[in-house]
Amino acid sequence: MIRINENYTKLKASYLFADIARRVAAFTEANPGKPVIRLGIGDVTEPLPPACVAALHAAADEMASRATFRGYGPEQGYPFLRELVAQRDYAQRGCRIEPDEVFISDGSKCDCGNIQEIFADDIRLAIPDPVYPVYVDTNVMAGRTGPSEGGRYQGILYLDSTALNGYVPDVPAEPADLVYLCFPNNPTGAVATRAQLAAWVDYARRNRAVILFDSAYEAYIRDPSVPRSIYEIEGARDVAIEFRSFSKTAGFTGMRCAYTVVPKSLVAWDRAGDAHPLHALWNRRHTTKFNGVSYPVQRAAAAVYSDEGRIQTRALTDFYLENARLVRAEMGRLGFACVGGDNAPYIWVDVGRDSWQFFDLLLERAQVVCTPGAGFGRCGEGHVRISAFNSRENVEKALGRIGAALRQA
Ligand code: MLT
Repeated sequence: MIRINENYTKLKASYLFADIARRVAAFTEANPGKPVIRLGIGDVTEPLPPACVAALHAAADEMASRATFRGYGPEQGYPFLRELVAQRDYAQRGCRIEPDEVFISDGSKCDCGNIQEIFADDIRLAIPDPVYPVYVDTNVMAGRTGPSEGGRYQGILYLDSTALNGYVPDVPAEPADLVYLCFPNNPTGAVATRAQLAAWVDYARRNRAVILFDSAYEAYIRDPSVPRSIYEIEGARDVAIEFRSFSKTAGFTGMRCAYTVVPKSLVAWDRAGDAHPLHALWNRRHTTKFNGVSYPVQRAAAAVYSDEGRIQTRALTDFYLENARLVRAEMGRLGFACVGGDNAPYIWVDVGRDSWQFFDLLLERAQVVCTPGAGFGRCGEGHVRISAFNSRENVEKALGRIGAALRQA
């Protein structure tokens, strides 16, 4: 008799954004005359930067000719893209990252979810709350937790991120082996200072731990004092893996291209106490289970670093940040305390009531979709996340509808 991986039965029935999509679909089916505006999942709406489109077309033409056609590429990504990443995203910012420490992939969600495979089953996890649900759910699937009780899985050291600590979790007193951090933060939009990140790097060094640093939203940082990469912190090469994505930087959610940096100096230990470079393990995993991002998509990603690409992607992130500013200003006018939105495309709104109830209220009375904070963890209760990813027209319309609905409520 074939048996299932029973760890899956510990999970909530569906993934947060799938659950929301189901509720929204049920609403639109029941109310066909009421068009819904989606400020829930962080999915981009604006077209690709023209530099990326031109590169995509040129690469498609290369694929159409025998002389320039390409089959499988290197699993880790083409050297032209790995070199650009190492040079432009790291060397130019004073971080020492080699091109072969960059693994090109089809998304940070997959990489953040898959990376746990290279660590032991019985490691101690430290995960913020609220948090992007992928970090927790993938560890539940892998059997690193007990069942959920009161909205929290046994065996995880939860790092509370609340108004009290400015939504940046403090370094805990107890040790952990694997720490997940995400800045600019999803869902709160908070950013961490250099000193806060340095405290985490110091914690990881003292505890021989590894930090998984999700930096998918770094392109939204406007405050020059805020680090864009964990590798801006002295010593981080020895304790951190970083995830970055073209999704939110250049509108690639439908293109699928991201990268993960695993420095060769980063090690973890086996039961006998022998050190193993994580670069070799991740390379083994990546080459076994992944066949590379398509050539045209990698060419389009490389175009992000061209002169025009840089200007166009900056305009794109500026555009969404202006949406974020409008959202934050209007929610503030409506009397809600908000964070985020200035160095991040998400606004975290303290709604002072049950977050699913507020979600339903916005959906039913304003036909606007947000993300209920409870979906990100226990500390998210009482909040909703509003995404800045939509057209200006829809954001303005949504804010008008939210104001009208709340004044009526
Ligand atoms: C989100 O809305 O949190 C993100 O779009 C999810 C993701 O990037 O996978």
